[in-house]
Amino acid sequence: MERLQKIISHAGIASRRAAEQMIVDGRVKVDGVVVRELGIQADPDVNVIEVDGKKIERAESPVYFLLYKPKGYVTTAKDERGRKTVLDLVSDVKERIYPVGRLDYGTEGALLMTNDGALTNAMLHPKSEVHKTYLARVDGFVSLAEVQKLRHGVELEDGMTSPARVKIVERDEKNDVTKLELTIHEGRNRQVRRMCEAVGHPVINLKRTEFAGLNLSGLKRGEYRPLTDSEIDYLYELGNLPQRSASPSADKEKSKK
Ligand code: URA
Repeated sequence: MERLQKIISHAGIASRRAAEQMIVDGRVKVDGVVVRELGIQADPDVNVIEVDGKKIERAESPVYFLLYKPKGYVTTAKDERGRKTVLDLVSDVKERIYPVGRLDYGTEGALLMTNDGALTNAMLHPKSEVHKTYLARVDGFVSLAEVQKLRHGVELEDGMTSPARVKIVERDEKNDVTKLELTIHEGRNRQVRRMCEAVGHPVINLKRTEFAGLNLSGLKRGEYRPLTDSEIDYLYELGNLPQRSASPSADKEKSKK
């Protein structure tokens, strides 16, 4: 017998935390009955466990992809407003993968997608300090003093931001726009947009160029590729996870559109 959230995350459906939310939200049934308590245990070989009406099958082998998310897609599995989701872009993948963290609807860029709950949890845990780099086109002329503020940390409604690497990439004086590169290791909601707003420069365009050392090279918007074994090993190291036993050689798969 195992806790439901553990069974769901082992089946590769969601991270442990997301599985708990699914249970609380009433999306999980055991033997036909909705279960909303987190302490419930079940046996996947004996009980019929369903998530959103779909029966959980035995654990899938872990797979890892990097997607170049275009603007205009949500990073949740379903959207109540009927907008397109990043899962629409990876419909060729037979495993039930999900995004590691979020990118806003209007943000494009590097998004890791996997069915490996342990890696997802590790990448999202603050202690892993996963670096994410963004290119932000912001309104107005950003001064060096403002860059320094962003570097040191700015006060947001949920507290000060940690020190960030920030540099000016380009100033377009004609259009009164500045292009900034920011590298942060926190993952607060709309963090880059809020940081830029806090120094008086709303974001016009936002692109994540790198996530945990994975960049977009070779990918066009909407395309994805499998991670190489060495990239997966690197993420495991970064997340302080024990080495994987067998590598599901994803390297051989081709990038798909
Ligand atoms: N920061 C933001 O403001 N938006 C994102 O999508 C990611 C980081």
